[in-house]
Amino acid sequence: MKAGQCILLLFSCQILYTQALECEVIPGTLKQIDAGLGSVGGVNNDSEVFLFLGNSFTKIRGSLKHITIGPAGQFGVSPENTVFKFQSGLFRQIQVSGGLKQVDAGSEIVAGVNSLEDVLCINKDTNNNGPPANAAWTQLTGGRLKYYSCGPYSCWGVNFTDNVFLKRNVTSSSCGGSSFSEIVNGSLSMVEVATDGSVYGVDYQGALMQRLGVSQSNPAGTEWQRVVACPFGHKHVTYDVGILWVICFDGSIRRCT
Ligand SMILES: *[C@@H]1O[C@H](CO)[C@@H](O)[C@H](O)[C@H]1NC(C)=O
Ligand SMILES: *[C@@H]1O[C@H](CO)[C@@H](O)[C@H](O)[C@H]1NC(C)=O
Ligand SMILES: *[C@@H]1O[C@H](CO)[C@@H](O)[C@H](O)[C@H]1NC(C)=O
Ligand SMILES: *[C@@H]1O[C@H](CO)[C@@H](O)[C@H](O)[C@H]1NC(C)=O
Repeated sequence: MKAGQCILLLFSCQILYTQALECEVIPGTLKQIDAGLGSVGGVNNDSEVFLFLGNSFTKIRGSLKHITIGPAGQFGVSPENTVFKFQSGLFRQIQVSGGLKQVDAGSEIVAGVNSLEDVLCINKDTNNNGPPANAAWTQLTGGRLKYYSCGPYSCWGVNFTDNVFLKRNVTSSSCGGSSFSEIVNGSLSMVEVATDGSVYGVDYQGALMQRLGVSQSNPAGTEWQRVVACPFGHKHVTYDVGILWVICFDGSIRRCT
């Protein structure tokens, strides 16, 4: 197909060169979503907090701009960058000097970035013995990132200019892992590593990408594949237990398999 035809038939061109998914529209609008261990949470533009219960998103108490659910627990950050951990039925405040603007509990460690785009993490034991104190957070060197997400053996992040970084050799007792290495081909505005190691991201133009070939022995994977879940562009993505949850440009929610 020629480029001109591609512009005229943009949608069918996407279908030709990408993986199209079976997606179901879930009522509601969100700006961020995170799935882990079979649970799904999200927040909307007004920092209202929702959990997917039964077949729909149900509003719960709290005011968060980011939520995460995974092996390390359920965490969120408020619009003021205060960090909360869901413990004994309540979101309880956790001391993190300077706060965090984004947090990830997708593995046994907890990691996040603060407003200066420093990357911080705590090991499994510190998290389990929590609530963790200031001093317990390890500040990682070698990269300022706006978004950071961890899986079973690696963490991925993106910096201010959307370059994509990989941190290998992350373990439950060594959340700092090896030094950052760059995924040269990548340009993403957010990236999420699932609890099974799958890596998905969204770029600034709203393209949804999956990293192919990711494994414990090759955490960097091999290439990006475009995935289409929304008709007019993607804003946020999370993957768990075979389900891809996507927020589209207009805030609408897709549940895809
Ligand atoms: C993001 O990473 C790239 C590649 O390492 C670097 O050239 C760029 O300066 C970084 N951007 C920021 C804002 O740190
Ligand atoms: C880090 O992980 C890689 C696989 O990504 C492995 O080959 C290497 O041996 C690991 N290094 C250390 C110090 O564990
Ligand atoms: C960049 O992407 C191209 C095409 O997908 C691929 O052939 C090449 O190996 C990639 N380079 C790196 C450094 O990942
Ligand atoms: C949420 O805010 C974003 C950015 O301002 C906007 O693009 C989007 O339409 C808003 N979503 C809803 C449902 O109003």
